[in-house]
Amino acid sequence: MSRKSFAQTTPEIADYVIDLFQPIDAALCEIINTSERAELPGIQVGPMDGRHLEILARAVAPLHIIEIGTLGGYSGLCLARGLQPGGTLSSFEKNEKHARIAEENLKKAIGEESLDVKFEIYVGPALDNLTKVEHKGPFDLVFIDADKPNYSHYFKWAEKNLRIGGMVIADNTFAWGEVHKAEEKTGNDKKMVGALAEFNLILAQNPNFRGTIFPTEEGLTVGVKIK
Ligand code: SAH
Ligand code: DHB
Ligand code: MG
Repeated sequence: MSRKSFAQTTPEIADYVIDLFQPIDAALCEIINTSERAELPGIQVGPMDGRHLEILARAVAPLHIIEIGTLGGYSGLCLARGLQPGGTLSSFEKNEKHARIAEENLKKAIGEESLDVKFEIYVGPALDNLTKVEHKGPFDLVFIDADKPNYSHYFKWAEKNLRIGGMVIADNTFAWGEVHKAEEKTGNDKKMVGALAEFNLILAQNPNFRGTIFPTEEGLTVGVKIK
């Protein structure tokens, strides 16, 4: 057995990394601020997870990204930065107000950065609207960050609609530090934690995917479609 472990447990090292890479730049800071002023919940991806999204997107070099759960557009901007020129971000958001704020935020940031990309926000429950874009696929990257009970449904959609070599990413897959205790949970906790555990399980056991979880605070599951 390797003596090498997995997650980083020295808080000072986490501080060091954040200090080193300064993951919240002016444009991302502006999205946080406008979202706060509009009283959106402050549940955008963590600063380093935003950077991870950008890095992963740049590595995949996608032409078409699907994002499920737009909020104010913070993760959307991170992902859009990794699009190839002429690429598209299609983001799905149930809440009309979130979608409206994200539309303004993304339009401004993409313009100011002169990114040669398009974005579209589909307002409504994601599962209803995803079927409407299937004909535009297959897609290169799917980021899942909306209602946790539907994560497995979103994964099944991604399995069907990603190209081989495409990537699925999901936020919050440590279920607030409880994912390993899904069996013990009851009520709404069971629904949320159980759904996230189920999502990780179906990805881990799917022979068409190679997966891992980046051990960030929230847990960022990443899978590549290999066949
Ligand atoms: N990805 C965003 C954060 C998303 S928070 C970021 O990091 O910047 C989760 C979002 O999912 C919320 O805006 C919520 O309104 C939305 N949501 C919840 N249920 C949904 C559903 N069924 N379909 C689409 N969006 C949903
Ligand atoms: C919460 C955080 C998230 O990243 C998310 O996608 C949904 C909810 C939360 O902390 O409640
Ligand atoms: Mg999240």
